[in-house]
Amino acid sequence: MKLRLWQSTDASALLELVETSTDLERQMPLPGTLQEAQHLIEGQWLPAQGRAVFCLDDGQAVGLVGITYSAQQEDGSWDRGWVYYWIADRARGKGILKSAVRAVCDWALGQYNPPEEKHPRLDTELLGTLESPNLRRLELGYRTNNPASGAVARYAGFTVEGIERQKFLYLGQTYDAVLAARLRQLPAPDFSTGVAVHHIELWTQNLEQVRGSWDWVLTQLGFSSYQQWQGGQSWQAQDGSYIVLEQSPQVSGAHQRTRAGLNHLALTCPSAHKLDSLRDQAAEHGWSELFAPNYPHAGGPQHYALYLENTQGFELEIVAPQPQ
Ligand SMILES: CC(C)(COP(=O)(O)OP(=O)(O)OC[C@H]1O[C@@H](n2cnc3c(N)ncnc32)[C@H](O)[C@@H]1OP(=O)(O)O)[C@@H](O)C(=O)NCCC(=O)NCCS
Repeated sequence: MKLRLWQSTDASALLELVETSTDLERQMPLPGTLQEAQHLIEGQWLPAQGRAVFCLDDGQAVGLVGITYSAQQEDGSWDRGWVYYWIADRARGKGILKSAVRAVCDWALGQYNPPEEKHPRLDTELLGTLESPNLRRLELGYRTNNPASGAVARYAGFTVEGIERQKFLYLGQTYDAVLAARLRQLPAPDFSTGVAVHHIELWTQNLEQVRGSWDWVLTQLGFSSYQQWQGGQSWQAQDGSYIVLEQSPQVSGAHQRTRAGLNHLALTCPSAHKLDSLRDQAAEHGWSELFAPNYPHAGGPQHYALYLENTQGFELEIVAPQPQ
């Protein structure tokens, strides 16, 4: 799958996918003819001032990630953006759309770092060649009964800011909408509120061996890639705290969690459903499960948690709220 710009010649593919996909009627005025499809692409999705609209291409157009800019400043720059996305039925549920939304949002905020290795299923090379609008704030909205869209937004670094009650009226029924936003600069640590974690620094004897597994788990939990340098990387949480993974030249010996010092790190996960799905995917990303026969209550009947160990023997505990 590749991220590219839309072209007028995508009209027939667009027509075909709107005819064969569900839930697209609220995403665009559905075209019924080739001419209408062409008109939609040319009028709303081709490159133009005040927007960036990307096409997902699996051989032909299959999805969209778009940003409409707003609040133009005196110097001509744009301040904010409204993000929207959809993907055809045939490509749903593969994690491609959420990776695309995250990459496009990173780019729009001027925080896109081309991956050192290509994403196995999504080519976002184009973003490294386009000038970012350097927006300060991205916003989006989704119906409360659209959890997949919420999961995509969370993965792309958005924080829920509120609910707009009965926002939409479709066919006589009202729907609440969730409003979420992502800021370019995460908040600076607040030193006035008492005890808080500023950052946690983990050393590794081989960064490349575990970088991918940390990147996967932390971004799944809502962290964003923060800094990268020769020998290290960090990921930042929405509260501004961050986790550093570094291969310092001074590392002496492998991590041994039964020695004095840090035994394991414990992070929160937004839902038990999410934790279950992390558990299903962990092995593919270099984590093996500890205490598996007792999942999810290895830590006690009131504690819903997943215990993982990476290939260097580092233990990570992830704790979710108890399902209702
Ligand atoms: C919403 C939509 C974009 C999601 O596309 P997708 O291909 O399923 O997206 P991805 O596979 O990349 O990611 C989906 C995420 O939602 C999660 N998810 C899917 N269904 C879910 C459900 N019923 N409850 C909770 N999470 C759910 C998936 O587990 C995945 O998250 P995870 O990888 O963190 O576990 C797609 O269904 C769509 O185009 N719908 C119609 C248009 C639309 O609603 N657009 C959003 C408008 S705001």
